[in-house]
Amino acid sequence: MRSFSHAQTRYDGVSRFLHWLMAVGFGVMLVTILARRFADETPFSDALWPWHRLIGFTLFLLWWIRVLWAWKMREESPEAISTFALWGHRLLYLFMVVVPCMALFRQYGSGRAFDYFGIPITQASDNKVEWMVALGNNWHGNLGIVLFIAIFMHIVLAYWHRRNPATDVLGRM
Ligand code: HEM
Ligand code: HEM
Repeated sequence: MRSFSHAQTRYDGVSRFLHWLMAVGFGVMLVTILARRFADETPFSDALWPWHRLIGFTLFLLWWIRVLWAWKMREESPEAISTFALWGHRLLYLFMVVVPCMALFRQYGSGRAFDYFGIPITQASDNKVEWMVALGNNWHGNLGIVLFIAIFMHIVLAYWHRRNPATDVLGRM
């Protein structure tokens, strides 16, 4: 109910579900990246790597649902405990969408087909769009690593805040 402005002490069930579902997704993404970096050309990495695109695209789709839902619930959701937390979360949202976008630009620009469980997302084409490929090559992986560093800081801060009951926000998510 809108009248209880920021009165809720917890995030609603949908927000919590999306947060933890996507957290698991990002965890699996990290495994795909570590496997590719440190165990490349092993059966483990070969089996896992195709899931990088599929889970990455799933996270990209979930992002839109999550942001629309967060917007709808903006009055009800608990307020951030500081301006730093507020902007930290906004930054996470920004990186969560920019990183897969860079990959999708490259995918489209490279003229290679990308199927999402049978649904064609990009089609094979002879026309390469160099700037899109360059954008993806330069930014997808690098910003992806920045995102994982930001997530790591987010987790550390969530647990660090537990030491003070006034800032212990883990229970509300
Ligand atoms: C939120 C989603 C995603 C995250 C966090 C993410 C993260 C990353 C990171 C950190 C790397 C660099 C690995 C390294 O430097 O060793 C990478 C590589 C890669 N990603 Fe993603 N990715 C996501 C979605 C996607 C999607 C949707 C696609 C394809 C449509 C994709 C395709 C690739 C490819 C082909 C590489 C290898 C080339 C490169 O390093 O740029 N990713 N990804
Ligand atoms: C073990 C992993 C994680 C823990 C313990 C954790 C913990 C939390 C907590 C306690 C909150 C609520 C903060 C508050 O009440 O002010 C929160 C919010 C948030 N978390 Fe996480 N988180 C984890 C993983 C992730 C991951 C992987 C992401 C993806 C980038 C993420 C993105 C966010 C965002 C964007 C918010 C703000 C939600 C909103 O206000 O709309 N978290 N997290």
